[in-house]
Amino acid sequence: MRGKGIFSFPSSLVLLLLLLLVHGTNGDNPYRFFNWKVTYGDIYPLGVKQTGILINGQFPGPQIDAVTNDNLIINVFNYLNEPLLISWNGIQQRRNSWQDGVLGTNCPIMPRRNFTYIIQAKDQIGSYFYFPSVGFQKAAGGYGGIRIWSRPQIPVPFPPPAGDFTVLAGDWYKRDHNVLRRFLDAGYNLPLPDGLIINGRGWNGYTFTVDPGRTYRFRISNVGTATSINFRIQGHKMKLVEVEGSHTLQNTYDALDIHLGQSYSVLVTADQPAKDYYVTVSSRFTTPVLTSTAVLHYSNSHVGVSGPVPGGPTNEIAWSLEQARSIRWNLTASGPRPNPQGSYHYGLIKTSRTIVLANSAPIINGKRRYAVNSVSYTQPDTPLKLADYFKIPGVFNLGSIPTNPTWGSGYLQTSVMDANFREFLEIIFQNWEDTVQSWHIDGYSFFVVGMDGGQWTPASRLRYNLRDTVARCTVQVYPRSWTAIYMALDNVGMWNIRSENWSRQYLGQQFYLRVYTPSSSYRDELPIPRNAVLCGRAVGHRTRP
Ligand SMILES: *[C@@H]1O[C@H](CO)[C@@H](O)[C@H](O)[C@H]1NC(C)=O
Ligand SMILES: *[C@@H]1O[C@H](CO)[C@@H](O)[C@H](O)[C@H]1NC(C)=O
Ligand SMILES: *[C@@H]1O[C@H](CO)[C@@H](O)[C@H](O)[C@H]1NC(C)=O
Repeated sequence: MRGKGIFSFPSSLVLLLLLLLVHGTNGDNPYRFFNWKVTYGDIYPLGVKQTGILINGQFPGPQIDAVTNDNLIINVFNYLNEPLLISWNGIQQRRNSWQDGVLGTNCPIMPRRNFTYIIQAKDQIGSYFYFPSVGFQKAAGGYGGIRIWSRPQIPVPFPPPAGDFTVLAGDWYKRDHNVLRRFLDAGYNLPLPDGLIINGRGWNGYTFTVDPGRTYRFRISNVGTATSINFRIQGHKMKLVEVEGSHTLQNTYDALDIHLGQSYSVLVTADQPAKDYYVTVSSRFTTPVLTSTAVLHYSNSHVGVSGPVPGGPTNEIAWSLEQARSIRWNLTASGPRPNPQGSYHYGLIKTSRTIVLANSAPIINGKRRYAVNSVSYTQPDTPLKLADYFKIPGVFNLGSIPTNPTWGSGYLQTSVMDANFREFLEIIFQNWEDTVQSWHIDGYSFFVVGMDGGQWTPASRLRYNLRDTVARCTVQVYPRSWTAIYMALDNVGMWNIRSENWSRQYLGQQFYLRVYTPSSSYRDELPIPRNAVLCGRAVGHRTRP
């Protein structure tokens, strides 16, 4: 019986479908154009003057608003005196790792040059952010929010809120990013950050104004470099509705843990007496605890914030783990498409193999480095994606990182793992260190099937959530614990898998996953962009006529 339906289509309709497949790359989806001037500028997030990275004079940078499938044409002009790339945390770049904006896929935009990213928000909804990916620039700002709205005909599982706030929160150093980088290059650990900031401001420096009785969406991302944070609003409940593009069961929380690189949407109703309230972030698992606040201002309030800042959890890991497990997919809600999210039965698909990734902090050549399965990533002179495309030998070797922990001593390597298009992977992140890890995978959204303390074993699978866990792009691994994910390799390309803890990323806790197909069809991967910048050993090769 399978496949019978298709033959009963009128042949003209089949022809139309074929035409759409051939020409439908970007279809009739709207184009949105952005011109970004990236400069240094004086900023005062913690009250002292320092050099920040601004976009069009702003810190944080401009918000990107798009609807599912929109095309974003973002022309980035680099007015810094150092190379630059902007990366798009959580934007999947389907068939298009050419636009990912990390050094393994793109040559950097050199000072006084520009590069136009051509990005499609293909089949995505939700809350994300962008950031400068080169060196330690992320510690100087240069980041901003990304909102991908549902198409008008697709139901959203909650009434339209009265307002939609972006909250970019995270830790901050008073030292300039190049000073921090030199520290790391010299083999020192960075100290604890100097404080936390919300939308570029310190204590009570930013105000969210709400009308009494109405409900607002807050999209909160941890854009910091070193600490997990807890977010809460004095006297108010938060109803969780979205995690990195997944609509969740709408549980209510008083306080929410947000690990490095993660994004959450909550609904908050202004249902309290008219006054001002603290919007609080504090660091998790650090001594001392860093805290900062913004203000939730009722439009009819004449009373400013007062009293002690409400406390939150500090070192409790069990609390955080329990909260993480409570975050689940709403199986009947729509995602980017009108069909219910639960119609994709990830738990029934047989995994093709298991990859175990263990982080470590080895000393290599007398200096602190960070590693995955003992390999500490080093950046080659030519982006991996270009070396792969132009078949330039000697830049990297496939299989240059083991797919299981080796427990040997650490070593430096340009590490690339190979995988085939359409594989369905089980990946275990095993953490034997005392700190929380935060792992991000470019190009994908994956299912977080389980997490727990201790060593993962095949028996751990018995406790997986194979029914309604969320799909997301960044996941935490608690100290001396593991996290397991399922991931369908449906996106051909060269993809960065990295720690979102930026010292660790910078010093080698990352690698690339090359998802390969022998087909050269544009349906599987888009061709190299005409404006691709060439550097290293790719100089002199031709992109496209
Ligand atoms: C740089 O900007 C110009 C327009 O000002 C544009 O035509 C050109 O394609 C951009 N360069 C790249 C590499 O995208
Ligand atoms: C799940 O989504 C459906 C469909 O939009 C909605 O009616 C329902 O309230 C949601 N359920 C929960 C528990 O969030
Ligand atoms: C990030 O890494 C540094 C260096 O290992 C560590 O001191 C810090 O605690 C880590 N952050 C988190 C959230 O674990």
